[in-house]
Amino acid sequence: MPSLSRRVMVTETSPHRVLVDLALELRLKGMDVISFHAGQPGFPPYSEALKDLTKTLLEKPFQTSSYAPSKGYPKLRHLIAEDIKKYSGITIDPDKQVLVTIGGAEAITISLLTGLDNGDKVLLLAPTYSVYWGLTKLLGIGVEYCEQDVNNGFQPDPECLKDKITRVKAVLFESPGNPTSRVISEEIGKLIVDLAVDHGRWVFFDEAYKHIYYEGEHVWIQRYPGAEETVISIDSFSKDLAIPGFRLGYLWGNEEFIRQAAKVKGYLSISASNISQKLAMIYLEKGYKELYLKQVIPEYRKRRDAAFEAVRKYLPEAKLIKPRAGMYLFPDISYYLEKLGMTDVEFAKDIALKKHVVFLPGSAFLPGTNRYIRLTFVTEPPERIEEGIGRIRAYLEEKGVV
Ligand SMILES: Cc1ncc(COP(=O)(O)O)c(C=O)c1O
Repeated sequence: MPSLSRRVMVTETSPHRVLVDLALELRLKGMDVISFHAGQPGFPPYSEALKDLTKTLLEKPFQTSSYAPSKGYPKLRHLIAEDIKKYSGITIDPDKQVLVTIGGAEAITISLLTGLDNGDKVLLLAPTYSVYWGLTKLLGIGVEYCEQDVNNGFQPDPECLKDKITRVKAVLFESPGNPTSRVISEEIGKLIVDLAVDHGRWVFFDEAYKHIYYEGEHVWIQRYPGAEETVISIDSFSKDLAIPGFRLGYLWGNEEFIRQAAKVKGYLSISASNISQKLAMIYLEKGYKELYLKQVIPEYRKRRDAAFEAVRKYLPEAKLIKPRAGMYLFPDISYYLEKLGMTDVEFAKDIALKKHVVFLPGSAFLPGTNRYIRLTFVTEPPERIEEGIGRIRAYLEEKGVV
Protein backbone atom coordinates (compact mmCIF):
# COMPACT_ATOMS: atom_id res chain seq x y z
CA MET A 1 0.00 0.00 0.00
CA PRO A 2 1.36 3.49 -0.81
CA SER A 3 2.16 5.65 2.21
CA LEU A 4 -0.47 7.87 3.77
CA SER A 5 -0.09 11.57 4.38
CA ARG A 6 2.00 12.69 7.33
CA ARG A 7 -0.87 14.92 8.41
CA VAL A 8 -3.23 11.98 8.79
CA MET A 9 -0.66 9.82 10.55
CA VAL A 10 0.03 12.43 13.26
CA THR A 11 -3.69 12.83 13.93
CA GLU A 12 -4.86 10.48 16.68
CA THR A 13 -8.31 8.94 17.03
CA SER A 14 -10.04 10.62 19.95
CA PRO A 15 -11.04 8.49 22.99
CA HIS A 16 -14.42 10.04 22.24
CA ARG A 17 -14.88 7.66 19.27
CA VAL A 18 -13.99 4.60 21.35
CA LEU A 19 -16.79 5.36 23.83
CA VAL A 20 -19.31 6.23 21.11
CA ASP A 21 -18.59 2.89 19.39
CA LEU A 22 -18.83 1.04 22.69
CA ALA A 23 -22.24 2.62 23.46
CA LEU A 24 -23.50 1.52 20.06
CA GLU A 25 -22.19 -2.01 20.51
CA LEU A 26 -23.87 -2.34 23.93
CA ARG A 27 -27.17 -1.05 22.53
CA LEU A 28 -27.00 -3.54 19.67
CA LYS A 29 -26.60 -6.29 22.28
CA GLY A 30 -29.87 -5.09 23.84
CA MET A 31 -28.35 -3.50 26.97
CA ASP A 32 -30.15 -0.68 28.78
CA VAL A 33 -27.52 2.00 28.15
CA ILE A 34 -27.69 5.29 30.03
CA SER A 35 -26.21 7.80 27.68
CA PHE A 36 -24.19 10.74 29.02
CA HIS A 37 -21.73 10.85 26.11
CA ALA A 38 -23.34 12.48 23.09
CA GLY A 39 -23.26 16.19 22.24
CA GLN A 40 -26.79 15.74 21.04
CA PRO A 41 -29.90 17.84 21.87
CA GLY A 42 -32.32 16.08 24.21
CA PHE A 43 -35.50 16.59 22.17
CA PRO A 44 -36.43 16.35 18.47
CA PRO A 45 -36.66 19.49 16.31
CA TYR A 46 -39.77 21.67 16.34
CA SER A 47 -42.41 19.63 14.55
CA GLU A 48 -44.13 22.58 12.79
CA ALA A 49 -40.78 23.46 11.22
CA LEU A 50 -40.39 19.91 9.92
CA LYS A 51 -43.93 19.93 8.53
CA ASP A 52 -43.29 23.18 6.65
CA LEU A 53 -40.03 21.81 5.34
CA THR A 54 -41.66 18.60 4.09
CA LYS A 55 -44.29 20.63 2.29
CA THR A 56 -41.63 22.80 0.62
CA LEU A 57 -39.67 19.74 -0.41
CA LEU A 58 -42.70 18.11 -2.02
CA GLU A 59 -43.97 21.27 -3.69
CA LYS A 60 -40.58 22.42 -5.00
CA PRO A 61 -38.49 19.29 -5.48
CA PHE A 62 -36.17 20.81 -8.06
CA GLN A 63 -35.40 24.05 -6.18
CA THR A 64 -34.85 22.24 -2.87
CA SER A 65 -32.46 19.71 -4.39
CA SER A 66 -30.29 22.05 -6.42
CA TYR A 67 -26.91 23.51 -5.46
CA ALA A 68 -27.22 26.49 -3.14
CA PRO A 69 -25.18 29.72 -3.44
CA SER A 70 -21.68 29.30 -2.03
CA LYS A 71 -22.09 32.00 0.65
CA GLY A 72 -25.55 30.70 1.58
CA TYR A 73 -29.00 31.85 0.48
CA PRO A 74 -29.27 35.66 0.71
CA LYS A 75 -32.55 35.29 2.58
CA LEU A 76 -30.93 33.07 5.20
CA ARG A 77 -28.00 35.47 5.59
CA HIS A 78 -30.48 38.33 6.12
CA LEU A 79 -32.39 36.31 8.71
CA ILE A 80 -29.12 35.48 10.48
CA ALA A 81 -28.12 39.16 10.56
CA GLU A 82 -31.55 40.06 12.00
CA ASP A 83 -31.18 37.34 14.62
CA ILE A 84 -27.72 38.62 15.63
CA LYS A 85 -29.09 42.16 15.88
CA LYS A 86 -32.03 40.99 17.97
CA TYR A 87 -29.92 39.20 20.59
CA SER A 88 -26.67 41.20 20.61
CA GLY A 89 -27.67 44.62 19.30
CA ILE A 90 -24.85 44.36 16.73
CA THR A 91 -25.60 45.41 13.13
CA ILE A 92 -23.83 43.55 10.35
CA ASP A 93 -24.09 43.52 6.57
CA PRO A 94 -25.68 40.17 5.64
CA ASP A 95 -24.24 40.33 2.13
CA LYS A 96 -20.65 40.89 3.23
CA GLN A 97 -20.27 39.63 6.77
CA VAL A 98 -22.04 36.25 6.90
CA LEU A 99 -20.99 32.93 5.42
CA VAL A 100 -23.24 29.87 5.78
CA THR A 101 -21.31 26.65 6.46
CA ILE A 102 -21.73 22.92 6.92
CA GLY A 103 -22.13 23.09 10.68
CA GLY A 104 -19.95 24.88 13.17
CA ALA A 105 -17.33 22.23 12.42
CA GLU A 106 -16.78 23.51 8.88
CA ALA A 107 -16.83 27.10 10.17
CA ILE A 108 -13.90 26.20 12.47
CA THR A 109 -11.94 24.56 9.62
CA ILE A 110 -12.55 27.52 7.31
CA SER A 111 -11.50 29.99 10.01
CA LEU A 112 -8.22 28.21 10.61
CA LEU A 113 -7.53 27.88 6.87
CA THR A 114 -8.35 31.53 6.23
CA GLY A 115 -6.46 33.04 9.16
CA LEU A 116 -3.42 30.78 9.58
CA ASP A 117 -0.66 29.24 7.49
CA ASN A 118 1.07 25.91 8.00
CA GLY A 119 3.36 26.22 10.99
CA ASP A 120 1.47 29.17 12.55
CA LYS A 121 0.19 28.64 16.06
CA VAL A 122 -3.22 29.00 17.65
CA LEU A 123 -3.97 29.54 21.34
CA LEU A 124 -6.54 27.15 22.85
CA LEU A 125 -7.99 27.15 26.36
CA ALA A 126 -7.70 23.62 27.76
CA PRO A 127 -9.95 21.72 28.30
CA THR A 128 -11.71 22.64 25.10
CA TYR A 129 -13.71 21.16 22.22
CA SER A 130 -11.83 18.08 21.01
CA VAL A 131 -12.30 18.92 17.32
CA TYR A 132 -10.00 21.96 17.67
CA TRP A 133 -7.15 19.78 18.78
CA GLY A 134 -7.53 17.21 16.00
CA LEU A 135 -7.99 19.86 13.33
CA THR A 136 -4.81 21.74 14.23
CA LYS A 137 -2.86 18.50 13.76
CA LEU A 138 -4.55 17.79 10.45
CA LEU A 139 -3.91 21.33 9.18
CA GLY A 140 -0.29 21.50 10.39
CA ILE A 141 -1.03 24.30 12.86
CA GLY A 142 0.89 24.49 16.16
CA VAL A 143 -0.87 24.85 19.52
CA GLU A 144 -0.20 26.86 22.67
CA TYR A 145 -2.67 26.51 25.48
CA CYS A 146 -3.74 28.09 28.74
CA GLU A 147 -5.28 25.80 31.30
CA GLN A 148 -8.72 26.24 32.77
CA ASP A 149 -9.31 24.67 36.15
CA VAL A 150 -12.49 23.73 38.01
CA ASN A 151 -11.17 25.55 41.09
CA ASN A 152 -11.48 28.92 39.37
CA GLY A 153 -14.65 28.14 37.45
CA PHE A 154 -12.70 27.17 34.29
CA GLN A 155 -11.69 30.78 33.59
CA PRO A 156 -8.20 31.00 32.03
CA ASP A 157 -5.39 32.77 33.87
CA PRO A 158 -4.94 36.36 32.56
CA GLU A 159 -1.15 36.14 32.93
CA CYS A 160 -1.05 33.03 30.74
CA LEU A 161 -3.16 34.78 28.08
CA LYS A 162 -0.87 37.84 28.09
CA ASP A 163 2.18 35.64 27.71
CA LYS A 164 0.88 33.21 25.07
CA ILE A 165 -0.82 35.78 22.83
CA THR A 166 2.60 36.92 21.67
CA ARG A 167 3.42 33.43 20.34
CA VAL A 168 0.30 32.79 18.28
CA LYS A 169 -1.56 34.10 15.24
CA ALA A 170 -5.04 33.50 16.65
CA VAL A 171 -7.04 32.50 19.71
CA LEU A 172 -9.79 29.90 19.29
CA PHE A 173 -12.21 29.32 22.15
CA GLU A 174 -15.81 28.51 22.97
CA SER A 175 -18.28 30.09 25.35
CA PRO A 176 -20.39 28.49 26.73
CA GLY A 177 -17.77 25.77 26.90
CA ASN A 178 -17.64 22.22 25.70
CA PRO A 179 -16.81 20.23 27.83
CA THR A 180 -16.81 22.69 30.75
CA SER A 181 -20.07 24.63 30.09
CA ARG A 182 -18.40 27.68 31.64
CA VAL A 183 -19.40 31.07 30.34
CA ILE A 184 -16.37 33.24 29.76
CA SER A 185 -16.36 36.16 32.22
CA GLU A 186 -16.83 39.67 30.82
CA GLU A 187 -13.39 40.51 32.22
CA ILE A 188 -11.53 37.67 30.50
CA GLY A 189 -13.55 38.05 27.28
CA LYS A 190 -12.57 41.72 27.12
CA LEU A 191 -8.96 40.93 27.94
CA ILE A 192 -8.78 38.45 25.04
CA VAL A 193 -10.20 41.02 22.62
CA ASP A 194 -7.89 43.77 23.94
CA LEU A 195 -4.84 41.52 23.59
CA ALA A 196 -5.88 40.48 20.09
CA VAL A 197 -6.36 44.11 19.05
CA ASP A 198 -3.03 45.21 20.58
CA HIS A 199 -1.04 42.36 19.03
CA GLY A 200 -2.94 42.07 15.74
CA ARG A 201 -4.28 38.54 16.30
CA TRP A 202 -7.52 36.87 15.24
CA VAL A 203 -10.07 35.74 17.80
CA PHE A 204 -12.20 32.81 16.62
CA PHE A 205 -15.13 32.84 19.01
CA ASP A 206 -17.20 29.67 18.96
CA GLU A 207 -20.67 30.31 20.34
CA ALA A 208 -22.37 27.03 19.38
CA TYR A 209 -24.31 27.05 22.69
CA LYS A 210 -25.21 30.75 22.72
CA HIS A 211 -28.94 30.12 23.19
CA ILE A 212 -28.61 27.29 25.71
CA TYR A 213 -28.73 29.39 28.91
CA TYR A 214 -30.43 28.60 32.22
CA GLU A 215 -29.43 31.72 34.11
CA GLY A 216 -27.92 34.98 32.89
CA GLU A 217 -27.10 35.98 29.34
CA HIS A 218 -24.60 35.20 26.64
CA VAL A 219 -21.35 37.18 26.79
CA TRP A 220 -21.05 38.87 23.39
CA ILE A 221 -17.34 39.58 23.11
CA GLN A 222 -18.14 41.00 19.66
CA ARG A 223 -19.33 44.18 21.45
CA TYR A 224 -15.93 45.15 22.86
CA PRO A 225 -13.92 47.93 21.16
CA GLY A 226 -11.88 46.65 18.23
CA ALA A 227 -13.81 43.38 18.00
CA GLU A 228 -15.22 44.25 14.57
CA GLU A 229 -11.65 44.01 13.20
CA THR A 230 -10.46 40.92 15.04
CA VAL A 231 -13.32 38.68 16.20
CA ILE A 232 -14.73 36.07 13.84
CA SER A 233 -17.77 34.32 15.27
CA ILE A 234 -18.36 30.63 14.73
CA ASP A 235 -21.98 29.56 15.01
CA SER A 236 -24.00 26.38 14.76
CA PHE A 237 -27.67 25.53 14.34
CA SER A 238 -27.08 22.07 15.83
CA LYS A 239 -27.99 22.89 19.42
CA ASP A 240 -30.49 25.78 19.37
CA LEU A 241 -32.57 24.45 16.45
CA ALA A 242 -31.76 20.85 17.45
CA ILE A 243 -30.80 19.86 13.90
CA PRO A 244 -27.22 18.51 14.19
CA GLY A 245 -27.84 15.98 11.41
CA PHE A 246 -28.78 18.76 9.00
CA ARG A 247 -25.20 20.04 9.35
CA LEU A 248 -25.67 23.79 9.29
CA GLY A 249 -23.74 26.68 10.81
CA TYR A 250 -22.23 30.04 9.89
CA LEU A 251 -19.36 32.44 10.29
CA TRP A 252 -19.78 36.16 10.78
CA GLY A 253 -17.53 39.16 11.32
CA ASN A 254 -14.83 41.13 9.53
CA GLU A 255 -15.80 41.77 5.90
CA GLU A 256 -12.45 40.99 4.28
CA PHE A 257 -12.04 37.82 6.36
CA ILE A 258 -15.51 36.61 5.30
CA ARG A 259 -14.76 37.43 1.65
CA GLN A 260 -11.62 35.27 1.75
CA ALA A 261 -13.36 32.59 3.81
CA ALA A 262 -16.05 32.35 1.10
CA LYS A 263 -13.26 31.54 -1.38
CA VAL A 264 -12.05 28.70 0.86
CA LYS A 265 -15.62 27.46 1.31
CA GLY A 266 -16.17 27.34 -2.46
CA TYR A 267 -13.29 24.89 -2.86
CA LEU A 268 -13.94 22.85 0.27
CA SER A 269 -17.60 22.03 -0.21
CA ILE A 270 -19.21 24.36 -2.81
CA SER A 271 -22.17 25.19 -0.57
CA ALA A 272 -24.04 24.19 2.56
CA SER A 273 -26.99 21.85 2.09
CA ASN A 274 -29.88 23.49 0.29
CA ILE A 275 -32.60 21.70 2.26
CA SER A 276 -30.92 22.45 5.59
CA GLN A 277 -30.83 26.15 4.73
CA LYS A 278 -34.55 26.02 3.93
CA LEU A 279 -35.20 24.53 7.36
CA ALA A 280 -33.17 27.22 9.14
CA MET A 281 -35.07 29.91 7.18
CA ILE A 282 -38.38 28.40 8.33
CA TYR A 283 -37.20 28.33 11.96
CA LEU A 284 -35.98 31.94 11.92
CA GLU A 285 -38.70 33.48 9.77
CA LYS A 286 -41.62 31.95 11.66
CA GLY A 287 -40.22 32.42 15.15
CA TYR A 288 -40.05 28.66 15.67
CA LYS A 289 -36.58 28.98 17.16
CA GLU A 290 -37.91 30.93 20.14
CA LEU A 291 -40.95 28.66 20.48
CA TYR A 292 -38.70 25.61 20.48
CA LEU A 293 -36.26 27.06 23.02
CA LYS A 294 -39.15 28.06 25.27
CA GLN A 295 -40.21 24.41 25.35
CA VAL A 296 -36.85 22.76 25.86
CA ILE A 297 -34.83 25.11 28.09
CA PRO A 298 -37.00 24.52 31.20
CA GLU A 299 -36.63 20.76 30.63
CA TYR A 300 -32.87 21.07 30.16
CA ARG A 301 -32.72 23.14 33.36
CA LYS A 302 -34.47 20.33 35.29
CA ARG A 303 -31.99 17.85 33.84
CA ARG A 304 -29.05 20.09 34.73
CA ASP A 305 -30.32 20.34 38.31
CA ALA A 306 -30.92 16.59 38.54
CA ALA A 307 -27.42 15.80 37.24
CA PHE A 308 -25.73 18.32 39.52
CA GLU A 309 -27.60 17.06 42.60
CA ALA A 310 -26.93 13.41 41.70
CA VAL A 311 -23.18 14.04 41.38
CA ARG A 312 -23.20 15.85 44.74
CA LYS A 313 -25.11 12.96 46.34
CA TYR A 314 -23.33 9.95 44.83
CA LEU A 315 -19.85 11.35 44.15
CA PRO A 316 -19.40 13.82 47.02
CA GLU A 317 -15.63 14.08 46.53
CA ALA A 318 -15.99 15.25 42.92
CA LYS A 319 -15.30 18.94 42.29
CA LEU A 320 -17.61 20.63 39.83
CA ILE A 321 -19.34 23.85 38.83
CA LYS A 322 -23.09 24.16 38.38
CA PRO A 323 -23.22 25.46 34.82
CA ARG A 324 -25.52 28.32 33.94
CA ALA A 325 -25.41 27.37 30.25
CA GLY A 326 -24.50 24.55 27.89
CA MET A 327 -25.16 20.83 28.00
CA TYR A 328 -22.44 19.24 30.13
CA LEU A 329 -21.19 18.65 33.66
CA PHE A 330 -17.42 18.32 33.88
CA PRO A 331 -16.54 17.03 37.34
CA ASP A 332 -12.98 16.55 38.54
CA ILE A 333 -13.01 12.98 39.86
CA SER A 334 -9.30 12.66 40.65
CA TYR A 335 -10.15 11.54 44.22
CA TYR A 336 -11.86 8.41 42.87
CA LEU A 337 -9.38 7.76 40.05
CA GLU A 338 -6.47 7.81 42.47
CA LYS A 339 -8.20 5.35 44.81
CA LEU A 340 -9.03 3.08 41.89
CA GLY A 341 -5.56 3.40 40.36
CA MET A 342 -7.19 3.87 36.96
CA THR A 343 -6.91 6.41 34.16
CA ASP A 344 -10.00 8.34 33.11
CA VAL A 345 -10.16 6.30 29.86
CA GLU A 346 -9.96 2.96 31.73
CA PHE A 347 -12.63 4.17 34.17
CA ALA A 348 -15.01 5.31 31.40
CA LYS A 349 -14.58 2.07 29.45
CA ASP A 350 -15.00 -0.21 32.47
CA ILE A 351 -18.16 1.55 33.66
CA ALA A 352 -19.60 1.37 30.14
CA LEU A 353 -18.93 -2.37 30.04
CA LYS A 354 -20.01 -3.23 33.59
CA LYS A 355 -22.75 -0.71 34.34
CA HIS A 356 -23.83 0.37 30.84
CA VAL A 357 -23.41 4.03 31.66
CA VAL A 358 -21.51 5.87 28.95
CA PHE A 359 -19.72 9.20 29.41
CA LEU A 360 -16.52 10.69 28.02
CA PRO A 361 -13.11 10.70 29.68
CA GLY A 362 -11.67 14.16 30.29
CA SER A 363 -8.59 13.44 28.24
CA ALA A 364 -10.72 13.60 25.07
CA PHE A 365 -10.50 17.38 25.56
CA LEU A 366 -6.78 18.19 25.40
CA PRO A 367 -3.82 17.06 27.51
CA GLY A 368 -3.81 17.65 31.26
CA THR A 369 -7.54 17.07 31.54
CA ASN A 370 -7.54 13.41 32.58
CA ARG A 371 -8.84 14.27 36.08
CA TYR A 372 -12.27 14.90 34.64
CA ILE A 373 -15.21 13.17 33.00
CA ARG A 374 -17.83 14.78 30.77
CA LEU A 375 -21.47 14.00 31.48
CA THR A 376 -24.05 15.28 28.99
CA PHE A 377 -27.11 16.15 31.05
CA VAL A 378 -29.64 17.03 28.32
CA THR A 379 -30.11 13.62 26.71
CA GLU A 380 -31.73 11.65 29.56
CA PRO A 381 -34.75 12.51 31.76
CA PRO A 382 -34.10 13.33 35.45
CA GLU A 383 -34.94 9.85 36.78
CA ARG A 384 -32.52 8.19 34.33
CA ILE A 385 -29.85 10.72 35.23
CA GLU A 386 -30.25 9.83 38.90
CA GLU A 387 -30.09 6.14 38.03
CA GLY A 388 -27.01 6.56 35.83
CA ILE A 389 -24.98 8.44 38.45
CA GLY A 390 -26.25 5.92 41.02
CA ARG A 391 -24.80 3.13 38.87
CA ILE A 392 -21.41 4.90 38.90
CA ARG A 393 -21.66 4.99 42.70
CA ALA A 394 -22.51 1.27 42.78
CA TYR A 395 -19.40 0.57 40.68
CA LEU A 396 -17.23 2.47 43.17
CA GLU A 397 -18.81 0.60 46.08
CA GLU A 398 -18.16 -2.75 44.42
CA LYS A 399 -14.52 -1.73 43.94
CA GLY A 400 -14.36 -0.89 47.66
CA VAL A 401 -13.21 2.71 47.19
CA VAL A 402 -16.22 4.40 48.84
C1 LIG B 1 -18.06 24.07 20.94
C2 LIG B 1 -18.58 23.44 19.71
N1 LIG B 1 -18.34 24.03 18.53
C3 LIG B 1 -18.78 23.49 17.38
C4 LIG B 1 -19.48 22.31 17.38
C5 LIG B 1 -19.86 21.72 16.05
O1 LIG B 1 -21.15 21.84 15.81
P1 LIG B 1 -21.78 21.45 14.40
O2 LIG B 1 -22.67 20.29 14.67
O3 LIG B 1 -22.54 22.67 14.01
O4 LIG B 1 -20.69 21.13 13.45
C6 LIG B 1 -19.77 21.66 18.58
C7 LIG B 1 -20.50 20.39 18.59
O5 LIG B 1 -20.69 19.73 19.56
C8 LIG B 1 -19.30 22.23 19.78
O6 LIG B 1 -19.49 21.65 20.96
